[in-house]
Amino acid sequence: MEIVKLEIEGGIATVTIDRQSKLNALNALVLNELEEIFLSLQDHSEVRVIVITGAGEKSFVAGADISQFPSISSEEAYAFAKRGQAVFSLIESSTRPVIAAINGFALGGGCELALACHLRFAAENAMFGQPEVKLGVIAGYGGTQRLPRLIGKGRALDLLLSGRMINADEALKMGLVNDIFSQAELLSKVEEYAQGLMAQGPLAQTFTLQAVYAGVGKSLSEGLEEEASAFRDVFKTEDRIEGATAFLERRPAAFKNR
Ligand code: COA
Repeated sequence: MEIVKLEIEGGIATVTIDRQSKLNALNALVLNELEEIFLSLQDHSEVRVIVITGAGEKSFVAGADISQFPSISSEEAYAFAKRGQAVFSLIESSTRPVIAAINGFALGGGCELALACHLRFAAENAMFGQPEVKLGVIAGYGGTQRLPRLIGKGRALDLLLSGRMINADEALKMGLVNDIFSQAELLSKVEEYAQGLMAQGPLAQTFTLQAVYAGVGKSLSEGLEEEASAFRDVFKTEDRIEGATAFLERRPAAFKNR
């Protein structure tokens, strides 16, 4: 890979977008490489948690690459949005938890990439925003849909209509991020959190993700049906027997991902 690096160690896959001269902005190549990596991770049974971050200390991802904007037609713009949406939906559909480690600017497509992850942790210097309106355009990689779902319509519209940037503290207050760490500790704290995830039942996490995301946009009764189905399916696994047995035997569970 030219720009997106993948490192797998101790069950954690770290995906790093390294295009620092452009603050890790997303161009077609970055999207292709992200897609290739996330497809390849589907076959890595030893990977339990995926972390996405940006290289350097300044930027997570400063958005879609604006240099392409002046020349594209409206039909090309449609395809541009669909392409980014497809890659981000692939990331969101991961059966393993995906964590955004937001080490700086998360603007436009960068904020939308973080939104497509299941969990978000920010460095103290992280800045968030959907500044597309400043360019006379709108968010196109899921921001108008995932942001209101995560933080509510009122707060999302504040960010989407004003284009203003917010710091990590405000992002935490809005529920846009799960926690804040110092820049120096961001990756080690995220790894620590990931270790905590890895001690839990992997298939239980997969079914949890499935139930939560399947319920989005559905009525409560339809969502509850999704939950009951996932609850039924998790009871077909060996791990659920191990989980309960380990509790009764007062020992840590040794899950086998089966
Ligand atoms: N697309 C393409 N290039 C980008 C970019 C983007 N989204 N964001 C930053 N860059 C490039 C800059 O053009 C510059 O390139 P250059 O050195 O070849 O001129 C380089 O990254 C560094 O950015 P710069 O603006 O000089 O850094 P800064 O510290 O002064 O400002 C930001 C940082 C993030 C505030 C500013 O770069 C910015 O506003 N970026 C655009 C954010 C945005 O609107 N994203 C949504 C896109 S839809």
